[in-house]
Amino acid sequence: CFRITRTVHLVPLKLGFSPGCGATCQCACASSIPASVPQFTNSPTMIVLVGLPARGKTYISKKLTRYLNWIGVPTKVFNVGQYRREAVRSYSNFEFFRPDNEEAMKIRNATISQHLFCTQVFDATNTTRERREVILSFAKEYGYKVFFVESICDDPEIIAENIKQVKLSSPDYVNCDKDEAVADFLKRIECYKVTYVPLDDDCDRNLSYIKIFNVGSRYLVNRVQDHIQSRIVYYLMNIHVTPRTIYLCRHGESDLNLLGRIGGDSGLSSRGNKFAAALGKYIRSQCIPDLKIWTSHMKRTIQTAEAVGVPYEQWKALNEIDAGVCEEMTYEEIQEHYPEEFALRDQDKYRYRYPKGESYEDLVHRLEPVIMELERQENVLVVCHQAVMRCLLAYFLDKSADELPYLKCPLHTVLKLTPVAYGCKVESVFLNVEAVNTHRDRPVVSVNTHAQTHTETGLW
Ligand SMILES: *[C@@H]1O[C@H](CO)[C@@H](O)[C@H](O)[C@H]1NC(C)=O
Ligand SMILES: *[C@@H]1O[C@H](CO)[C@@H](O)[C@H](O)[C@H]1NC(C)=O
Ligand SMILES: *[C@@H]1O[C@H](CO)[C@@H](O)[C@H](O)[C@H]1NC(C)=O
Repeated sequence: CFRITRTVHLVPLKLGFSPGCGATCQCACASSIPASVPQFTNSPTMIVLVGLPARGKTYISKKLTRYLNWIGVPTKVFNVGQYRREAVRSYSNFEFFRPDNEEAMKIRNATISQHLFCTQVFDATNTTRERREVILSFAKEYGYKVFFVESICDDPEIIAENIKQVKLSSPDYVNCDKDEAVADFLKRIECYKVTYVPLDDDCDRNLSYIKIFNVGSRYLVNRVQDHIQSRIVYYLMNIHVTPRTIYLCRHGESDLNLLGRIGGDSGLSSRGNKFAAALGKYIRSQCIPDLKIWTSHMKRTIQTAEAVGVPYEQWKALNEIDAGVCEEMTYEEIQEHYPEEFALRDQDKYRYRYPKGESYEDLVHRLEPVIMELERQENVLVVCHQAVMRCLLAYFLDKSADELPYLKCPLHTVLKLTPVAYGCKVESVFLNVEAVNTHRDRPVVSVNTHAQTHTETGLW
């Protein structure tokens, strides 16, 4: 089954697809797609997920989409399953997926062509080479680059785990007996196996792709065409599926927090010290195996981590946003000394850059290595700062650039993030030590347009 993602990106490409297999090729790459022509510099990318059901394709596409959006590459995931369900109302049984089922084929064809032409986001539930060729010629026509991501898994345990974790909660199986549902799902996989043709080293050697074997025990990367594709490969090679928990919190309240001043490098207030002690107690109570603790290079995070009493690592990349000329000022002072700057920041808080300082957007770029290392690690506690925590949280909770600078990250509160199915569960743990409020709400002018945003972030 394919899930396709559209991305906008940076570098030009030549889509070098011309089928016509060599004699060594067992497969029938029949139709002839004309040689590629150079495309526009900003031609978008279509990421096509290939693989049998329960191979983590949805997991990969959602996660990859979240990452690409976070690094500033607008990406949309298109899930064919959803459209199929809308088209046929309720899914009855595996018969629907049999390649010789005419009726079902019609519905699937219709859902595909609809999206082919309306939204220019392409999707299909067909793992055959012909289907891939349809996608490639479509991409060529509309000026997309195509990158295939194939997930191959022959470990029955991993497949069973995947079916249990995500598939049985699918709307297809709402009122179903669990065992029956698993049996039905396995039959469904068998149906796909009839037509499934994996990407072939020889036949598909002109395509750009990554093959992921058994959730990342091995990879095969072919013909990476540009920067964005290498970013995709880099990301996919760093993620894992081992269960773990990430704890995010800010430093304890600092002396400058008490004075309402931003930035600087002050130490903890007495309540800040109390929080540090409470954090140590909380972390010990959680009995987290192999916990890693990361701080920034700033006094207040280091003092906070010291109180936990285990070794910690300092990251310069975790330092608070650089407020430039506004460092150590109160918001009132900024308003007084730099009234225009203050207004500009309210207009686009994500992109606004303090004079001689940084923007949230800059911060996201600075934090990318931290995110990549968080992906590689298991249990981690990150003791950081308000703006930094907002950026990290936006990545895990899939928040837009517009929402990011207004995410609520109060002092003395630990956010516990646990990956579940396709998302992330968040628990907010206030450690019962009072602190000043450093949150500034979105200015009233823009409330109307962002009303929805506010209800969503109210979640936690
Ligand atoms: C790959 O591309 C080259 C050059 O365009 C072409 O000669 C060759 O036949 C293609 N191979 C396959 C398997 O499509
Ligand atoms: C589905 O589309 C394919 C290719 O466009 C076509 O060959 C086939 O006949 C269609 N099937 C049905 C049932 O409409
Ligand atoms: C889907 O796969 C079937 C079986 O290979 C093929 O007959 C059909 O044409 C494919 N549909 C499309 C739209 O490519």
